[in-house]
Amino acid sequence: MKFFIDTAHLDEIKEAAALGILDGVTTNPSLMAKLGIKGKDAVINHYRAICNIVNGAISAEVISTNYEGIIKEGEELAKIHPNIVVKVPMIKEGIKAIKYFTERGIKTNCTLVFSTGQALLAAKAGATYVSPFLGRLDDVSSDGLQLIGDMVQIYNNYLFETQILAASIRHPMHIIECAKMGADVITAPLSAIIALFNHPLTDKGLEAFLKDAEKWK
Ligand code: E4P
Repeated sequence: MKFFIDTAHLDEIKEAAALGILDGVTTNPSLMAKLGIKGKDAVINHYRAICNIVNGAISAEVISTNYEGIIKEGEELAKIHPNIVVKVPMIKEGIKAIKYFTERGIKTNCTLVFSTGQALLAAKAGATYVSPFLGRLDDVSSDGLQLIGDMVQIYNNYLFETQILAASIRHPMHIIECAKMGADVITAPLSAIIALFNHPLTDKGLEAFLKDAEKWK
C-alpha cells in the first residue's frame, strides 16, 4: 500500500519524507489557502517546492469546472514536473477531461468521490487514481469504509487499473481498515501517519531494555 501525505505544509512533507515511507503528496485548494498561498504563480511555485522534496506522485488540483478550463489548467499543471498528477473533480466535465488526459499520458486523480457509481465512471474514464473521501462520508453518518470495500470488489471484477486512493482519512484506524480492504493508496494527515508508531508496550519494552542495558556499563 502506498502512503501519501495530505497537506500543503512543506515542513510536514519533509518530516514524512524523512521517515522513508512516503510515496506521494495530495493537496487541495483548501489546504493551500490555509497556508495563505495566493495567486497562480505562488501556487505553481509551491507545487514545484513539493516536487523537490518528494520523488513520487504529487496531486495538483484544477479549479476550473468547464471542460476547456480543466484541460488548459491541467496541461499547465502537468508541465510543472513529470510527477504531477492532475486532480480533477468528479463532475461530468471532469470525467470528460480525465478521458482526454488519459489518452495523452497525463496522470489524473479523480477527487470528491462519494459513491460506487462515481468510482465506476472515474475508472471507465481511465483515471490513474480515484479518491473516495472516507472521513467526510463518516461525518454525515454514511459508512466511508463500506465504500472502499465496494470499490475494491468492483475494480477487481473488471481488472480496472485505476488505483483506489483512500482520502479524507481522520485517524490511524482508517489507515489500518483501508489496508485490510486492499486500498492501493491512503492519503492522510501527518498526525494519522505518526499515530501508527504508537504503542504503550513498545514504549514500556524499550524503557526496560535501555534500563537493563545500563547494567552493561
Ligand atoms: C484528498 O485528496 C483531500 O485533499 C483530502 O483527503 C480531504 O480531506 P478532508 O475531508 O480532511 O478535508
